[in-house]
Amino acid sequence: MNGDGVILVTGGSGSLGHRVVARLRSAGRKVRVLSRQQHEPSSGVEYVVGDLEKNVGIDAAVVGANVMVHCAGVGKIKQDTAQAQNLVRAAEHAGVRHIVSISVVGAERIPVKSAVDRSMFAYFASQRAKECVIEASGLPWTNLRATQFHDGFILAMVRAMSKLPLVVLPAETRFQPIDADEVAGALVDLALGAPAGQVADVAGPKIYESEYLLRSYLEVIGKQRAIVHMKLPGAAAAAIRAGANLAPGRAVGTRSWEDFLADLAPRPSARAVARQ
Ligand SMILES: NC(=O)c1ccc[n+]([C@@H]2O[C@H](COP(=O)([O-])OP(=O)(O)OC[C@H]3O[C@@H](n4cnc5c(N)ncnc54)[C@H](OP(=O)(O)O)[C@@H]3O)[C@@H](O)[C@H]2O)c1
Repeated sequence: MNGDGVILVTGGSGSLGHRVVARLRSAGRKVRVLSRQQHEPSSGVEYVVGDLEKNVGIDAAVVGANVMVHCAGVGKIKQDTAQAQNLVRAAEHAGVRHIVSISVVGAERIPVKSAVDRSMFAYFASQRAKECVIEASGLPWTNLRATQFHDGFILAMVRAMSKLPLVVLPAETRFQPIDADEVAGALVDLALGAPAGQVADVAGPKIYESEYLLRSYLEVIGKQRAIVHMKLPGAAAAAIRAGANLAPGRAVGTRSWEDFLADLAPRPSARAVARQ
């Protein structure tokens, strides 16, 4: 359906985007990456310098692309909205035939209304704002919502917490982390298919209490921390306690948090193994 034209990947330098680029290349597709930085071209991948928020360089990035995969983002409402608006405007002008976008599970049902909600959960609103711009664009679109990536939000969260002498965890909060490469695979399948609108969520194989995620990480890095739980105020926190960030019926990921941690754990050196 999408022919052999170049596929534009915004955020193709990021954690998810670079995996999308690699998979599109493996599928034999020509890829163009929009980035704020200069990059050396590599086999089958060209780079265009541009800034989605500042609306610079986007026309050059979209020209000749029938399909685009929108992985860029900063997780802030104003910035992600502006990025999507500028991208959509350029895409409409260039006649792009399919825009595939990534969002987060719960974007449409975690209410981020009050100042309290926004102070802690603006991320979900930023993803919903991006979705709304794309849905309203008139471009043929596909949107995939994923849970948090092992090496994205979850690792960043437990790493930051591990540096604190006392960790205050949001009470009754669970996550269903997924491998970013599996999400990239799902996005590439969608990009190579026809526009499908809102597709079924993708989520990791297991649901974990946040305390388990933290303690299992602390074990890998050989640290101990005092942990207390605090019930967060606001409607967004309540929705998350009720599981709005989870997709138990869509546990399609195969790589678990334990698998991810096993790869993160320092391996014994050859000399240490020989001494055993
Ligand atoms: N991480 C998670 O757990 C998770 C879960 C579900 C959904 N998501 C969503 O998936 C997307 C990708 O996440 P990620 O973890 O891969 O993020 P990431 O590693 O932080 O990468 C973000 C990308 O956005 C690009 N970018 C940021 N501002 C830009 C701008 N003004 N103009 C052009 N490009 C810009 C960056 O490109 P340059 O720096 O090269 O310009 C970078 O490649 C995001 O929308 C995120 O919300 C993430």
